[in-house]
Amino acid sequence: MAIPILVLNGPNLNRLGKREPGIYGSTTLAEIGERCTAAGARLGLSVDFRQSNHEGVLVDWIHEAADAGVRGIALNAGAYTHTSVALHDAIRAVGLPVIELHLSNVHAREEFRHHSFIAPAAAGVIAGFGPMSYILALEALAAMLQPAQDS
Ligand code: DQA
Repeated sequence: MAIPILVLNGPNLNRLGKREPGIYGSTTLAEIGERCTAAGARLGLSVDFRQSNHEGVLVDWIHEAADAGVRGIALNAGAYTHTSVALHDAIRAVGLPVIELHLSNVHAREEFRHHSFIAPAAAGVIAGFGPMSYILALEALAAMLQPAQDS
């Protein structure tokens, strides 16, 4: 049985492909979603891939995912990474493992992108690998949720 996980995308990520391609590349969010579904199938994960520009919607989806039996979340919170106590609290409230992820290396960019409200509540952080950041986050979730057997 595939393990249900949520890949959650925050504001402006619906513009990927057209948005600042020098920073974010030319791959669209729909293409990233397809790659996540394919990688999930390989890793034994069933992927629910979503995007919203609204902070409260993202909070609602985190709560609903936990109530629906989702086992982990890969979260690109976009700019809310750097501003949202509400998303930090939502992650703590549900207790699910969350991998924070970013397409760009936020630590090599403006100072205001260096702080994350998500990171202290996350199991780990992946940044700077473009669309591959999503696949690495799924690999991390799969490893956490299906630990290798010793014997
Ligand atoms: C981002 C980095 C954030 O700083 C920015 O606000 C985004 C995208 C990334 O994936 O690199 O919207 O999360």
